[in-house]
Amino acid sequence: MKGFAYRDGILHAEEVPLPELAARHGTPCYVYSRAALASRYAEFGRALAGRDALLCYAVKANSNLAILNLFARAGAGFDIVSGGELARVLAAGGDPSQVVFSGVGKTAGEMRQALDAGIFCFNVESAAELERLNGIAGQAGKRAPIALRVNPDVDPRTHPYISTGLRSNKFGVAYGEALALYRQAATLPHIEVTGIACHIGSQLLDPAPAAEAAGKVLALVGQLAAAGIALRHIDLGGGIGIRYRDEAPPAIADYLAPILAQLAGRGEKLLFEPGRALVGNAGLLLTRVEYLKHGEEKNFAIVDAAMNDLMRPALYDAWHDILPVQPGAAAKAEYEVVGPVCESGDFLGHARTLAVAPGDLLAVMSAGAYGMAMSSNYNSRPRAAEVLVDGDRAFVVREREGIAQLFAGEHVLN
Ligand code: LLP
Repeated sequence: MKGFAYRDGILHAEEVPLPELAARHGTPCYVYSRAALASRYAEFGRALAGRDALLCYAVKANSNLAILNLFARAGAGFDIVSGGELARVLAAGGDPSQVVFSGVGKTAGEMRQALDAGIFCFNVESAAELERLNGIAGQAGKRAPIALRVNPDVDPRTHPYISTGLRSNKFGVAYGEALALYRQAATLPHIEVTGIACHIGSQLLDPAPAAEAAGKVLALVGQLAAAGIALRHIDLGGGIGIRYRDEAPPAIADYLAPILAQLAGRGEKLLFEPGRALVGNAGLLLTRVEYLKHGEEKNFAIVDAAMNDLMRPALYDAWHDILPVQPGAAAKAEYEVVGPVCESGDFLGHARTLAVAPGDLLAVMSAGAYGMAMSSNYNSRPRAAEVLVDGDRAFVVREREGIAQLFAGEHVLN
């Protein structure tokens, strides 16, 4: 995996041995590789070369300011879903005029904040949201640029919790209703119709559903043009999958090819909103074995990271490879790799064959996306540190939380 490799029997992040990071910064600790981030971004860049295209990194996948800043410096735009994410993008030096705002529940305050910042587009997901946005933009003396996020009713063939483009999902405007809503949007004084958006799900490994969705979006663009509504951009969302275990995701260029083929010769600006594909394999979660416990039925490797640090296994039964940082002489056994949280669902991996001893370090791989971003303080566990490695240098890009931060802002009654 780019950015992480064994050298002399020790797992490194770029040039830095992971035991050194653990000694310096403690565990659990997220470790990211700058080179891995840059290489994925460049892969998208090559696939889209020569097109009028904008990559809007989906901030929700990993919203650390340092990572946002790297993408901002590379020229990325951003896909946000909250006022908090907008604030992060601005704090990280992102260009608001390259920001799209997705999400089904935008508040009046968030709309105002985004209008004031001057974002590129609101991806509107309902008639009620459109009406609210028109009102807020009117109060602000502005016209809000919008795309309707249409729900193409395509099965992305992924985990049901992360599929978003089916008719039964809460996302987007029903395909059959989009034309009428566009017509209405075009009459609203404080709305400027600029584009169309669609996002069908996440961790997609097969390019066919995305290409099918793009086809449906383009058909709608044609109908809109016939109705006198000309669009300037087409946003096809994110969702490109990565390898966690033995998946064989297509290269970015191959994933995009059937989509780009349909778009040949068109004048609209093209947007994508990748999250996981940019950061997922550029990060790992470094954790230390606290105890080995040999139960009656199973062996447990109890580590110092838990579901509050990396929720994906507990939430989706997701697989993350778990590698020994420094494979040693311990006897091999099959372990449940679990954390200290008081829930049976608190596991990082089931039935992993590992040769570990207490005190050993493990690396939970492919944790750059939806890892730290979904972490919590459950069980009053301070959140992990985050370290970004660049060659032989390592930077703390988020300090480990302390006890004081755990209950800052809480009050007891007098
Ligand atoms: N655009 C929109 C409108 C989205 O809802 C999402 C993700 C993305 C872009 C980025 O999708 P990506 O390229 O990362 O697949 N927590 C889950 C994933 C939830 C994805 C939610 N939406 C996980 O850990 O697998």
